[in-house]
Amino acid sequence: MTGEAEVELVLATANPDKAAEVRDILCSVLGAGIVLHGRPADVPEVAETGDTLEENARLKAVALAAATGLGAVADDTGLAVDALGGAPGVYASRYAGEHATYADNVAKLLREMEGVGERGARFSTVAYAVLPDGTEFSAVGDVEGVISLAPRGDGGFGYDPVFVPVEGDGRTFAEMSPAEKHDLSHRGRAFRALAGLLAARRPERR
Ligand code: IMP
Repeated sequence: MTGEAEVELVLATANPDKAAEVRDILCSVLGAGIVLHGRPADVPEVAETGDTLEENARLKAVALAAATGLGAVADDTGLAVDALGGAPGVYASRYAGEHATYADNVAKLLREMEGVGERGARFSTVAYAVLPDGTEFSAVGDVEGVISLAPRGDGGFGYDPVFVPVEGDGRTFAEMSPAEKHDLSHRGRAFRALAGLLAARRPERR
């Protein structure tokens, strides 16, 4: 812990879109009480060999904590589409192939969903923190939605242009501002809960 900051963490994600969201959400809850370092470029990519979101989030957080000596925070996110038996699930980033772009994955999802009436889906995120003393915390966030018939909006990333949260007003996540998305999103819910756990652990200031 340094200076005024009460929590100092390194972000384990190598995905700049996810890192920006995690930063936004944690800073909105913990404000000046947190210092977040970006993932050091010289730390090798962590293989996501787990079968669950929690295992993969933990692998990333443990590896970054070990590599840096700092506390680390990671997340892993899956998209489960009911009509596809829960696919793409934990393999959401590789749905259209190993080096698939966001657009490739969205195009494959829309192809698989052609003519399908039941379009229910949910995003789930596990947020995971490992502190320098070895303490581990995790929190889960889910959001229910439907897969739209076509992509809409330029915001967000990944499957956001085709995900319409049921608690929203019919817009996709990509049509919302970042704050509107975080308010409803899987990642917003998981990291607000994680921030609560981190804040509860902070020593009282005297
Ligand atoms: P990851 O395994 O947590 O990196 O996420 C897997 C994939 O899910 C990402 O590559 C994105 O395609 C997608 N994804 C994760 N979070 C979001 C989100 O908030 N909105 C849309 N797609 C997402």
